[in-house]
Amino acid sequence: MDEIGVGLIGTGFMGKCHAMAFGAVKAVFAPPITPRLAVLCDIEPAAARRAADEFGFARWTTDWRDLMADPAVGLIAITAPNALHREMAMAAAAAGKAIYCEKPMALTLEDAAAMTGAATAAGVATLVGYNYVRNPAIAHARRLIADGVIGDVAYFRGVYDEDYMADRDRPYSWRCRIAEAGLGTLGDLACHLVSVAHFLIGPVAAVAADIETVIKERPDPARPGETGTVENEDIAHALLRFENGVGGALASSRISWGRKCRLAWEITGSRGSLVFDQERMNELQLFVADGPAERRGFATVLSGPDHPPYGRFCPSAGHGLGFNDLKVIEVDHLLRGLAGEQMLFPDFEAALAIERVIHGIVRAARRREWVTVKA
Ligand SMILES: NC(=O)c1ccc[n+]([C@@H]2O[C@H](COP(=O)([O-])OP(=O)(O)OC[C@H]3O[C@@H](n4cnc5c(N)ncnc54)[C@H](O)[C@@H]3O)[C@@H](O)[C@H]2O)c1
Repeated sequence: MDEIGVGLIGTGFMGKCHAMAFGAVKAVFAPPITPRLAVLCDIEPAAARRAADEFGFARWTTDWRDLMADPAVGLIAITAPNALHREMAMAAAAAGKAIYCEKPMALTLEDAAAMTGAATAAGVATLVGYNYVRNPAIAHARRLIADGVIGDVAYFRGVYDEDYMADRDRPYSWRCRIAEAGLGTLGDLACHLVSVAHFLIGPVAAVAADIETVIKERPDPARPGETGTVENEDIAHALLRFENGVGGALASSRISWGRKCRLAWEITGSRGSLVFDQERMNELQLFVADGPAERRGFATVLSGPDHPPYGRFCPSAGHGLGFNDLKVIEVDHLLRGLAGEQMLFPDFEAALAIERVIHGIVRAARRREWVTVKA
């Protein structure tokens, strides 16, 4: 196969991001398989028509089932809201199409497990859009850990905070209802942090946790003068124990004023530390306990061509990649996986392990005890 037809569902934030990545990937990476923009789907006809033209798709539709029946489509990219992922992924698996699905996988653990079972049974390739693990700075951190530069890992501590729900007057919406949104900050933000923790440290085995809905009522635009009750969590705190014995902690909030994309973590080992913050995504902080004590300190390593695949975008260090570039790297990874050059991560199986952690955090918080996160 040297070409694959893409059927993309959704034209919002992620739909455009996927389309830009499919459009750029050949120029940046020259992958073994070229994506052909076959069909674009959105439930809004005007959006589907306009975006098909702007993104360069051959045709558009408002019925996502069209994509499953179309022989020109070999890959289904799902960027529709979370509540639709299960049905779309199950249909794509039944049609024998490769699946590229946005995170989180679904609303519930049962849905995510069903999607994984269906894809495995159908033998179709899968990838979930945990784009932050694609950052060259994160790949560099992983190599530094593997090379023993910071010694034996002692702990992982991470946060993922944003402020998109910090305003108490932000109206009540589908985001606040479990049936439509699923989890709150855990499903939206913390799952990304867990993907990075799994990538750098390995799978989480057990969690103890506390979760809270801080802003319990929000003004309901559908019923002026009244409020709607928020059903999912605004913040989550968890202690972690990884399968390899390393301990750690995570915290996540969607109500942290001033935080825009603070996916930040710190890993300390027996000889040094690594520190990263996605709001400064081209910088990795490295401390190594070498040399005279009075000269020691954190060094800022600016991403550059020494940190693949940065050089695919730009020959000069320190000029910086951006969020959308992570999606281009992800799509290259996807196409190389489809060509059999590498294993896809996180596929549905690995993304299900992430879902087990975030849903495990809810279980641990309800029970007020450590719970095991297992298959
Ligand atoms: N990987 C990331 O960093 C990241 C960032 C943001 C969102 N996401 C995920 O991407 C997904 C979409 O989020 P978004 O921010 O792009 O949302 P969005 O609201 O901007 O876009 C959703 C799109 O889906 C379309 N849609 C809704 N119902 C549909 C249907 N039945 N058939 C076809 N199209 C339909 C909408 O019209 C809209 O174009 C979510 O799962 C979200 O969690 C991931």
